[in-house]
Amino acid sequence: MMEINKILRPHLRNLTPYSSARDEFQGTAEVYLDANENAFGSTAKDTYRRYPDPYQIELKSRIGEIKDIGIEHIFLGNGSDEPIDLLIRAFCNPGTDKIIITPPTYGMYEVSANINNVEIVKVGLSEDFVLDPQRVLEANDPNVKIIFLCSPNNPTGNSIDIKDIIEIVSKAQRLVVLDEAYIDFSSRDSLIHELKNFKNLIILQTFSKAWGLAALRLGMAFANPEIIGILNMIKPPYNINGATQELALNAIKNKEKMLGMVKDMLEQRKVLLLELFKISAVKKVYPSDANFFLVKINNAHEVYLKLIDSKVIVRDRSNVELCGDCLRITVGTKEENLKLIESLKYLGR
Ligand SMILES: Cc1ncc(COP(=O)(O)O)c(C=O)c1O
Repeated sequence: MMEINKILRPHLRNLTPYSSARDEFQGTAEVYLDANENAFGSTAKDTYRRYPDPYQIELKSRIGEIKDIGIEHIFLGNGSDEPIDLLIRAFCNPGTDKIIITPPTYGMYEVSANINNVEIVKVGLSEDFVLDPQRVLEANDPNVKIIFLCSPNNPTGNSIDIKDIIEIVSKAQRLVVLDEAYIDFSSRDSLIHELKNFKNLIILQTFSKAWGLAALRLGMAFANPEIIGILNMIKPPYNINGATQELALNAIKNKEKMLGMVKDMLEQRKVLLLELFKISAVKKVYPSDANFFLVKINNAHEVYLKLIDSKVIVRDRSNVELCGDCLRITVGTKEENLKLIESLKYLGR
């Protein structure tokens, strides 16, 4: 088993974290004069004059119930982009350490590594976007500290075989971040239940997709308590603002609505797939476990520009490795998908 403290960057092993007013006093009192807040009121809702709970205990408790996991296994970030950056900062020494990514995949792993001056080792997926765990393990030299896997993967939409993920997690002797941003749309289960078996596994999820809360910026990292403690130690003190905590607590009560939206999306995903197949310029629609399709289409960039003329915006991924002539199209509502298909009619059937 890996010893987490040994792989932490040396200068962080004895870090004294910032101690906020809310760290130093957690009980209830009548008069709070400890945080230099505005004693006279707020220009918005009155409760917003107070700093929020730095560890979001109430919100984590609700999330823990939904995910069936203790709050000591949960870190909340300003989007899941925040734990991506914090993990690289905690474990990768700039200029010497490396991360492995498996392109084409979500761009922020590479951007965060670049910001932190951490080398990127790329183990590309096959032409059909399948991951080869052996190649990942071969690329895993002593300076690799984190392996990033994304399932369902963005921008390809497909999932990684669970046995391949487990093979990497169990053999690599490295931290493995499994990004499950799109898991709620997938027919496969989350690997959260594997956390008890693997101390080196970190799972990322987000409220930005199935829950429809992208604007709140709320991401989740699930991992063993030692890793959660490290993220808590280096995060900005109040990284999840009070409005987000409050709105998310209310939104979580709408789990039924979330499930209903997922169901609607799955239906529309089927319809959109059939419609896309009818367009002769569409060369391939890659299978998707997510709320989008990667679509290979003749002259993708021109199609992208034409769609903009029709006021329909999709993502041109043509310049991403292995994604030549590919557009990434989010599954919209019935009306939005009709408009998209209408706008593609000029291509002929
Ligand atoms: C795979 C993947 N991970 C993470 C994120 C970031 O999510 P968040 O909004 O929680 O920062 C995205 C956003 O599109 C994504 O596609």
